[in-house]
Amino acid sequence: MTQSPFRISKAVIPAAGLGTRFLPATKATPKEMLPVVDKPAIQYVVEEAVGAGLTDVLMVTGRNKRPLEDHFDRNYELEEALLKKGDQDRLAKVQQSSDLATMHYVRQGDPRGLGHAVLCAAPHVGDQPFAVLLGDDLIDPRDPLLSRMVEVQEREGGSVIALMEVEPAQIGLYGCAAVEATVDSDVVKVTNLVEKPEPGEAPSNYAIIGRYVLDPAVFAILRETEPGRGGEIQLTDALQKLAMDEKVGGPVHGVVFKGRRYDTGDRGDYLRAIVRLACEREDLGPEFRAWLRSYVTEEM
Ligand code: G1P
Repeated sequence: MTQSPFRISKAVIPAAGLGTRFLPATKATPKEMLPVVDKPAIQYVVEEAVGAGLTDVLMVTGRNKRPLEDHFDRNYELEEALLKKGDQDRLAKVQQSSDLATMHYVRQGDPRGLGHAVLCAAPHVGDQPFAVLLGDDLIDPRDPLLSRMVEVQEREGGSVIALMEVEPAQIGLYGCAAVEATVDSDVVKVTNLVEKPEPGEAPSNYAIIGRYVLDPAVFAILRETEPGRGGEIQLTDALQKLAMDEKVGGPVHGVVFKGRRYDTGDRGDYLRAIVRLACEREDLGPEFRAWLRSYVTEEM
């Protein structure tokens, strides 16, 4: 088990998925670049990592993902043009994404599952605990989750996963955790994990949502993990082994999240995320809310 003598500083963001649920929009554009109001979905995720104190971000990408690298890099021509126009507001927006964090990229090559994507991060991460953030899960910026997970990991050691209670009919869409209560009302001890259980086989209605703080012992386990659900190397299967044997990489805890989360990989939830975040924006909200109110009363 690796105790953390330093603050956790590295975040890994798997971003090699094809985004087939959003075709044709994702034919030539990575799904992570789809805008949520006026920022690409992936920028919210990087901002969340930075907000929790993680300033070193490794993206695990694949073919056709160059726009991700461009988005988090400088764009001198655009900056020059905005500077000439004296458009400081937009210039700040353009510079914001390149100033956020130290970005690194590694390509996954064969898409062999989430566990395999995380394994691609091993040489970069080394032997310190690290965070994993899945790009499809957007956690509302006002409901901090990752910083709480980092806090729990620093206190307990081992690994920490994010859990959310879902309707029993939904649990088959997620990794599912069997848990025991702890003295903290928002923290549970994870005793078992099953990736996307069949109906009737779920040990609980606690779903894994896409945030993890992991002990580096997970890498050795992932190397040995056979393909599981969907023929893919599953991160959940590796975490299950950690949960079953604390001697390998310390305990696995769960932080139970009760805040707002959107699955931006799902079209309905993607639209809900845009509407909710637009309503709450200071610049767009007042006018948009008024329009939405009249749209709902008059047109629906
Ligand atoms: C992945 C994980 C699953 C987790 C989910 C959260 O599944 O394998 O355990 O519950 O993310 O979004 P995916 O949605 O990529 O199939």
